[in-house]
Amino acid sequence: MGVLQRVLLSTTIVLLAIIGGFYQIYLKSFLARAGISPSRLVQSLNNKNCKIIPELQACEELILHQPSGLVYLACSTPLSRAHWIPAMEQFNTTGASTTDYVAMYDPATSHVTRLTTSDFNNGRGLSLHGMDVVASTLHPEHLFIYLVNHRIPLGGAPPSDVGADSVVEIFETVLGSTSMQHVKTVADGNAIVTPNSVLGSPDGKSFYVTNDHGARVGFARKLNLIGSKSAFVGYCHVDEGCRPALSKITSTNGITAASNGTIYVANSITGVVEVLERQSDDTLVATDSIKTEYFLDNLSIDDDGQILAAAVPRLPLAGKHMKNPSLTSPTLILRLSINIGSNAFYGEKYKVEKVFEDDGTVMSGGTSASYDSARRKLYLSGIASPYAVVCDV
Ligand SMILES: *[C@@H]1O[C@H](CO)[C@@H](O)[C@H](O)[C@H]1NC(C)=O
Ligand SMILES: *[C@@H]1O[C@H](CO)[C@@H](O)[C@H](O)[C@H]1NC(C)=O
Repeated sequence: MGVLQRVLLSTTIVLLAIIGGFYQIYLKSFLARAGISPSRLVQSLNNKNCKIIPELQACEELILHQPSGLVYLACSTPLSRAHWIPAMEQFNTTGASTTDYVAMYDPATSHVTRLTTSDFNNGRGLSLHGMDVVASTLHPEHLFIYLVNHRIPLGGAPPSDVGADSVVEIFETVLGSTSMQHVKTVADGNAIVTPNSVLGSPDGKSFYVTNDHGARVGFARKLNLIGSKSAFVGYCHVDEGCRPALSKITSTNGITAASNGTIYVANSITGVVEVLERQSDDTLVATDSIKTEYFLDNLSIDDDGQILAAAVPRLPLAGKHMKNPSLTSPTLILRLSINIGSNAFYGEKYKVEKVFEDDGTVMSGGTSASYDSARRKLYLSGIASPYAVVCDV
């Protein structure tokens, strides 16, 4: 989720803006994307036929298993999010949750299952953020679960000085099973620094991970607000090691892939979705970009190849919601698709449309969305939201 705290640094921004005198060229569009100007209204769209799933609290990311309709989510507690979100430099270990969990939602029964796991890291537990769930190519019932785990650092150094000891955990499970088994913890000082979201491979052995900042703590990490490009994407293979795969991005958040291998990364601050092609050495090269007018969070792609992006319509409200989850924050989901309309000829290659918008009454603080195109169900969850929602659309 990494973008939202930055608004709280408004003093810094304003100061830098004065120094740089760059209001016209940068800050104005920044404020517009962030929804700080009150002229941006929140409408109601597709929010009538929705059902609350009360058990699914503070689920940062959700992944749909399209063949079965089962939904997997990385969940926590809304209260702990106010204390421990390393991406937002919230480093209160006393209030952190280390008992985060992967939930499975079955739309046929409305039943929520918390996947159990045995202790795999001497009680350090799970403090979850982004996730991916990928079916094995050879055995489609066999699923690999990739989780960003923001562990509390060992050794007593305060996390506000050293940051979280963030890693990517790989688990495996069988479709519909109520437990998951730990496969590996992957840590790397160059490729997994400030992990946000992850894109896993179908063999359980490699993944791409977005790093929303260049450093875990320190002043330099704030400079992406004024255009510094220190965020990056890392690549790891459990047998071959890790390395940076794409460098020099302002900010990164959600990551997803189309079935043909094209990878999409949300650049939260610029509101752009980067279109990336994987090279033979596993690095990524940008081939295109899709512009939106919003701050962006998670991405998912449906069976028809349409990308869903969780946008942040009013950044200040989102910031307040993450500090105090009982304060509502509007939710907006965008759909990005290839433009086949007549204006495609004039260079509008991608179409950006709203598919869900709500002032926070039905769904507050949504950071992740997924669309089941076969069952016409839109799932919404949020990093600090008091519940998840499923809507018939
Ligand atoms: C840290 O979290 C604990 C437990 O929720 C809380 O009592 C305490 O006030 C928090 N400290 C700060 C500085 O927010
Ligand atoms: C891959 O699929 C996406 C989504 O359907 C499409 O937009 C893109 O053009 C495709 N890329 C290639 C190289 O075929």
